[in-house]
Amino acid sequence: MPQLLHLDSSADLDSSVSRSVTALFSDVWHSLGADNSVIYRDLHRTPPPHLPSAAMHWAPHLRTPNEVAPPEAEALQKELIDELVSADVVLIGAPMYNWSIPSTLKAWIDYIHVPGITVPFDSPTRPLEGKPVVVVSSRGNQYGPGTPDFGADHTVAQLQQVLGVALGMEVFVVTVDLTLANRVPAMAPLVPQAANSLADARSAVTGLATRLGAAPAAS
Ligand SMILES: Cc1cc2nc3c(=O)[nH]c(=O)nc-3n(C[C@H](O)[C@H](O)[C@H](O)COP(=O)(O)O)c2cc1C
Repeated sequence: MPQLLHLDSSADLDSSVSRSVTALFSDVWHSLGADNSVIYRDLHRTPPPHLPSAAMHWAPHLRTPNEVAPPEAEALQKELIDELVSADVVLIGAPMYNWSIPSTLKAWIDYIHVPGITVPFDSPTRPLEGKPVVVVSSRGNQYGPGTPDFGADHTVAQLQQVLGVALGMEVFVVTVDLTLANRVPAMAPLVPQAANSLADARSAVTGLATRLGAAPAAS
């Protein structure tokens, strides 16, 4: 029974591009069979609070005597980590906000990246090793090689660092560029390019959902 954990973080509840692309992934996932389930968490509508204490960064057995975590925050941290560990595949809608990720998504990361629980520290524990995670990064401008703002994208590298390098997950990145082309008059000549970027992203998530959501072949 493949289970998808689907996270969205766009603050746009009407015309979000990342939400539309993650929804397509989720639809394809569901279409693959009645056993394909989805746990949905909307980090914008129900944002995790900022970490109330730095103690939360550490597994309980790694905290100093002065580091005390509030029980309700610990309960949320356990819920978020359990949800992540039990998923077979993770899908994250990650719009670019001020060259970075939304603070709601950053707060979620602060809860789930925990030395001694999800990343190795005093033991080799790494429960997310190899788990596929699909990141849908929507951005108003474009940041690819050869573009004027190449190097200013601090969304994808950050997510690859924490999800891939630290947590050991298998990260797939789908970008949608130039989402502001229809809104900003100066970007009007880029509208066709924006449409191509969205079409490519829709095609990419359809392929990824089909591949990652397929039931393992019987042996
Ligand atoms: C608070 C805020 C900050 C933004 N900052 C940037 C930015 O730094 N660079 C950029 O290219 N687009 C920026 N945008 C545009 C969004 O990245 C773009 O609208 C994207 O499509 C948002 O994802 P969504 O459509 O899923 O909401 C910003 C939008 C908002 C609301």
